[in-house]
Amino acid sequence: MKEPPGFLAACRCLPVAYTPIWIMRQAGRYLPEYRAIRDRVSFLDLCRNPELAAEVTLQPVRLLEMDAAILFSDILVPVEAMGVKLDFSPGPVLERPVRSRMAIEALAIPSIDEKLPYVLETIRILRRELAGTPLIGFCGAPFTLACYLIEGKGSRDFATAKKLMFSAPELFHDLMDKLTLMSIGYLNAQIDAGVQAVQIFDSWGGILAPADYQMFALPYIRRLIRGLDRKGAAVILFIKGCAGLLELIRDCGADVVGLDWMVSLARARQLLGPRIAVQGNLDPTVLLASKDCIEGAVRRILQENGGLPGHIFNLGHGILPATPVDNVRFLAETVRRLSGR
Ligand code: CP3
Repeated sequence: MKEPPGFLAACRCLPVAYTPIWIMRQAGRYLPEYRAIRDRVSFLDLCRNPELAAEVTLQPVRLLEMDAAILFSDILVPVEAMGVKLDFSPGPVLERPVRSRMAIEALAIPSIDEKLPYVLETIRILRRELAGTPLIGFCGAPFTLACYLIEGKGSRDFATAKKLMFSAPELFHDLMDKLTLMSIGYLNAQIDAGVQAVQIFDSWGGILAPADYQMFALPYIRRLIRGLDRKGAAVILFIKGCAGLLELIRDCGADVVGLDWMVSLARARQLLGPRIAVQGNLDPTVLLASKDCIEGAVRRILQENGGLPGHIFNLGHGILPATPVDNVRFLAETVRRLSGR
């Protein structure tokens, strides 16, 4: 019998020959091949150039044999199409934070075909080039996007954004409405262009108390997922700091939940139930340590999964720029060697 394909089968909790692996931020500064391209073009120009964006998407698949590719872009790219001027240095910086009723009303719901044709063209190039390797598209979760829009830049605690959320909830909900509507159109356009899975990145969801997540963030995740015309595409929800939110999100409609390393895979599976696949959850810092450390950590994570179908190996957050490439190669080999049936 033909082996079932790895990543997409695992998203559906189907059995696979070995645990598939991909890595958040797998195209990035730890790769000399990526840095060579970035020496010539800015990050945003790279996102806007379909040939180059496709090339850096393919780098980790070819160099490191990752089992899935993730579109090279950024969660803030569609926000720019809503009319917010944006720069990266290296984190996102907005020219004008969105903090008033007027600023929220000024946000456009963009036609993706018209405003972001380069994202869709990148996807079409990739589907031709990737052959059997599945392609993941993505967007930021409405809450995480709202954090950046209100704060205007990265932050440790997004206090300005949370203050607005608590003190002007109506304004905040209106912003979330618009971001959700935009994201539905954005992911549907990516699915139409050919991505086989989509990941929703809620990188800052974990800074909310569970009750506040339930009130201010989760309804929009549900609405976003319900708004998708999936055409068979799998939906992955990644929340950094998810440990206290797992019971809340088990019914949100996602096929896969991405886990950071602050919760064990065993505990997460207990809380999520048997129908939801899990993705993760190696501490990215382990990749800075020795091969023995890496192998030990992989062994533990596979053990915590207990051999259940529906595990995709990944890091618990993006790979660190200082990571030795050889350690990433070793990680992928080790996952296959230790998980193979
Ligand atoms: O994963 C991938 O390989 C696909 C591409 C991708 C990038 N950003 C490229 C990128 C994806 C999926 C993202 C998502 C993203 N962007 C998130 C969610 C995931 C997460 O990390 O929590 C967030 C919060 C952003 C916003 C953002 N973009 C930040 C905070 C930064 C700076 C971070 C840093 O590492 O310095 C970026 C810039 C960025 N996005 C880079 C890359 C490769 C580095 C840019 C460079 O080359 O200088």
